[in-house]
Amino acid sequence: MSGLQFPDGFLWGAATSAYQIEGATAADGRGRCIWDDFMQQPERRKAGATADAACDHYHRFEEDVRHMADLGLRAYRFSIAWPRIYPEANRRVNQRGIDFYRRLVDGLLASGIEPVPTLYHWDLPCWIQKKGGWVNRDTVALFEEYAQTVFESLASGVKTWITLNEPWVVSFVGYLFGTDAPGVKDLSAALRTAHHQLLAHGIAARNYRRQSSGKIRVGIALCLAPAYSAVPSDRARENAEFMDGFVNRWFLDPILRGAYPKDLEDFYRQAADMPEASQGDMELISSPVDFIGINYYVRQLVDESNKLEILNSARSAPSYEMKDVLTLEAHPAGLYDIMRSIHAIDPNVELLVTENGSPLNEGGRNDRGEIQDRERIGYLESHLTQVHRAVADGLPVRGYFLWTLLDDFEWVHGYDVKFGVIEVARPGLERKWKRSAYWYRDLIRANGFEQTKGDLV
Ligand code: FCB
Repeated sequence: MSGLQFPDGFLWGAATSAYQIEGATAADGRGRCIWDDFMQQPERRKAGATADAACDHYHRFEEDVRHMADLGLRAYRFSIAWPRIYPEANRRVNQRGIDFYRRLVDGLLASGIEPVPTLYHWDLPCWIQKKGGWVNRDTVALFEEYAQTVFESLASGVKTWITLNEPWVVSFVGYLFGTDAPGVKDLSAALRTAHHQLLAHGIAARNYRRQSSGKIRVGIALCLAPAYSAVPSDRARENAEFMDGFVNRWFLDPILRGAYPKDLEDFYRQAADMPEASQGDMELISSPVDFIGINYYVRQLVDESNKLEILNSARSAPSYEMKDVLTLEAHPAGLYDIMRSIHAIDPNVELLVTENGSPLNEGGRNDRGEIQDRERIGYLESHLTQVHRAVADGLPVRGYFLWTLLDDFEWVHGYDVKFGVIEVARPGLERKWKRSAYWYRDLIRANGFEQTKGDLV
């Protein structure tokens, strides 16, 4: 056994998102979002799950903040529901929505936990979708307005902001594969969606930094999955490069380098319409950021298929087909590799692991009825070992947010897939710590851990 210590001030956190935990979808003037509609489609209805209850965090947030304090979290990543702030097309601010997040931020601060809000984690208001959603460039201005309102309401308590969560998923899972909301299959629409989100991100990052004279940190959370060739051939290596472009570089390059990757751009031009970019777009998109948030679950293994098949195989990555997360061998070193590649593009940008976790809960229960999720602990340990390796190699890694605090509404998987370190019983919604929660608490206390492979006493 060997002990791994982290630097003082390392930001230990947990992440959640509004739609997945809040419930209360009709409370206090909240408007509908695209996921509310998507889960009503006949095919989804069959599963019978909606996020109407979720974890009812909206009403139980004080209890949840107490759990966070008991865990010793230094930071908490959550998202703000755009449809609570701007519920309708009249663009009137819903003060009750603002008040909820103000209370949450104040509660966190009172417990010594740093709030880390994400402005957009997939819950686009339906009234914006009716006008074309992210495919319509007008949505960028609506996002700017929303971001400004949130900033003015919460800036006094928030030092670290995340603009968007996983624009790759919103663009390609929502608009190419069509398996997430809004369920469209159209590469041109996916590319426009990506471009407009990148713009929205860049404008918000610029505005936030301008207004706070450098006292805050702004970044974006990207789902990043390094791609490796499964066979030792040139063709497979070339395909891995292509996959890396599709999932990672299409977002990293514009943000950090101010340009789309040429290889992918050439491919997309043949297969679809590239979004009409206005002059100055790339300059906005590449507005300086303080950190890149890394959401990491699994790697991409690529064979010798043609490029369209490659695109399609990304469907299972990083976590969109949970069965793959359950069956795919975890690849902790991928987290290190992706940190290295971001650092190679921009050695000054800080790195924050904004999501990493596992849906494995096997291990039975102890006498107190608590889930003994040793495999999750093993997953977290092996990934944190790689985070530690990156820190030891001098990479600017500032913190780690595990996904996720509570068993929640896992999008199309409803409540069947459970990533939480705290169990949420249904239908009563009582919270109960799993073994991994105690393990994480002890890790935070010690600012490090002994590698046990999850085999705790
Ligand atoms: C990520 C999402 C998050 C959660 C995890 C498992 O892609 O950002 O909301 O669903 O996967």
